[in-house]
Amino acid sequence: MNKHFLNLKEYGSTGVRDLVHGALELKNGSHQKNLKGKYLALIFEKSSTRTRLSFEVAMNQLGGRASFLSVNDLQLGRGEPISDTSKIISSMADGIVLRTLKHSTLEKFAESSSVPTINGLTDLSHPCQLLADMLTFVEHKGSLENKKVCWVGDFNNVCYSYMEAAEIFNFNLTIVCPDEYKPIDIELNSNVELTNSIDSGLKEADLVTTDVWVSMGDEKDSERRLSLFSNYQISPTVMNKAKSDAIFLHCLPAIRGQEISADMLDDPRSKVWEQAENRLHAQKSLLLALL
Ligand code: CP
Ligand code: NVA
Repeated sequence: MNKHFLNLKEYGSTGVRDLVHGALELKNGSHQKNLKGKYLALIFEKSSTRTRLSFEVAMNQLGGRASFLSVNDLQLGRGEPISDTSKIISSMADGIVLRTLKHSTLEKFAESSSVPTINGLTDLSHPCQLLADMLTFVEHKGSLENKKVCWVGDFNNVCYSYMEAAEIFNFNLTIVCPDEYKPIDIELNSNVELTNSIDSGLKEADLVTTDVWVSMGDEKDSERRLSLFSNYQISPTVMNKAKSDAIFLHCLPAIRGQEISADMLDDPRSKVWEQAENRLHAQKSLLLALL
């Protein structure tokens, strides 16, 4: 039996907490080349800077190797079934990171994979991002227990992973989203609140986070999104509605002038550069646990 990392909840609370704790130790400690001889395959259907590089560098620093395989270069892009591709690659590699358009592709791949399969982002979730976000919060503010986290944006992949993280780390999550983008059939846990008001969402928040208004794959809806989200931009002035010691995170890439003002990432409350670097430490923790 191997353990995949498809979603935070499926991986389990204790496991996820251990990954974040492990990432903190790795960041502050020395590197052991514990993955010598191990090989990681990265298969991406969508663009990536941080996820791809952090996995490649993590493998390198831990003594292993990684290869990036674009779907366009694989026979997968010419119609070879996902299950066949999974069987072949997992018969050679020790772990696989997949970034797919559809979450169901990741699940199909994992079903046929004999080695750990890692979700490098799908339309439904981005669990690796949350490991880095939780690590960044813990470094700055300590425990997440009973803290207030405010997500401003649509119910996208990162938002769904925040909902899972809220359950695991026991924080209160407020989602600020225009009515038009509230999913009709969603059931929210008791520690998740939904509002269309940026004022009430940010009130007393310890962490404010946002993401692009148009995620990869949602481009056909761009015009409507840009118009309906136009009052939901985070700027240093908007951040003043949160707690005075609140921090700001963004998974990046960001679009200045849309979800954030031109000066937001340079505000002292923004911890986005550390958050991005933390992808590397989090990835190492994950690879050591799975491989
Ligand atoms: N945040 C994140 O996953 O970035 P990339 O798309 O660059 O990997
Ligand atoms: N929600 C964004 C995250 C990018 C890392 C997207 O899916 O495009």
